[in-house]
Amino acid sequence: MNPQHNRQAETGQTDRPLIILGCGYTGRLILPLTTQRGTATWATSRNPTQQLATVPLPQRLEFDLARPATWGHLPAGADLIWCFPASPLSAVQQWAGTQRSRFNRLVVLGSTSAYETADDSTTYPPPWTDETAPIDRTKPRVQGEEYLCNEFGAILLRVAGIYGPGRNPLDWITQGRVGPSRKYVNLIYGEDLAGICLAAIEKGTPSGVYNVSDGMPYTWKEICEAAQQRWGVIPTAAQGDPSPGKRISNTKLRTELGYELKHQDLYQALDLIELAKPQL
Ligand SMILES: NC(=O)c1ccc[n+]([C@@H]2O[C@H](COP(=O)([O-])OP(=O)(O)OC[C@H]3O[C@@H](n4cnc5c(N)ncnc54)[C@H](OP(=O)(O)O)[C@@H]3O)[C@@H](O)[C@H]2O)c1
Repeated sequence: MNPQHNRQAETGQTDRPLIILGCGYTGRLILPLTTQRGTATWATSRNPTQQLATVPLPQRLEFDLARPATWGHLPAGADLIWCFPASPLSAVQQWAGTQRSRFNRLVVLGSTSAYETADDSTTYPPPWTDETAPIDRTKPRVQGEEYLCNEFGAILLRVAGIYGPGRNPLDWITQGRVGPSRKYVNLIYGEDLAGICLAAIEKGTPSGVYNVSDGMPYTWKEICEAAQQRWGVIPTAAQGDPSPGKRISNTKLRTELGYELKHQDLYQALDLIELAKPQL
């Protein structure tokens, strides 16, 4: 075993620096949690002056997968959490071929949209989807994720819909982006996702795949009904998407990464988000 990991097992601490590659919604939630990790942490943006204005200057780095001239900006030896779609494959291959060896552990955020949707919509509710389910390899981001996972030991997180402050499913209902359909939706609270990214960096198996979801899929109809009863939110869309959706299993996440979800109850989490909303 790597001596760094031995030390970590003894003390619970690591001395490997961390780089959040693409510091958007999730990256900004990871940043405050890294103080517990106790190592140097950097955040990247394609335009750090504009996008990372709230991040202390010494922690900001410019990085763009599409611009190889920026790749050398990342300090060597760090762990990486890759928070944007790993595509196109050609750029991912070029980056990995020249840069991967400069870094330590790599966590890549993928999406549960990688899983093929069953053609057989007569099976309802849909069966649980675990990490062994077939994936759609025609999707560019799936090609990039699989490449990093299989060829370069990346730990791949297949992430469900991210929600939290500023990403409020009640707003999606009001805006008509979703309606009261029978389609199942799988969600993960942003703060939990951030914690899971750090758990994956420490405990994930290289080339391992983990679904990231709160494990409590609902139909949009159920959520719309609760939204109306609890918060007076009226759906503006007609019934909407008739497809069955998916039910994403998070068993591997809970058993192998040992992460305890803080926001497993969607309706309690929505209460928190509503309470935290700035009053107009
Ligand atoms: N939103 C969801 O519900 C959902 C569901 C499943 C999976 N995911 C996936 O989970 C990951 C994290 O999601 P998120 O919502 O936190 O993402 P996000 O807010 O879009 O943050 C990712 C950041 O990466 C940077 N970026 C984008 N393209 C880049 C490139 N080519 N090179 C370098 N940096 C780049 C962008 O920052 P700058 O503009 O500052 O460079 C962007 O803000 C993403 O891969 C997303 O697709 C999201």
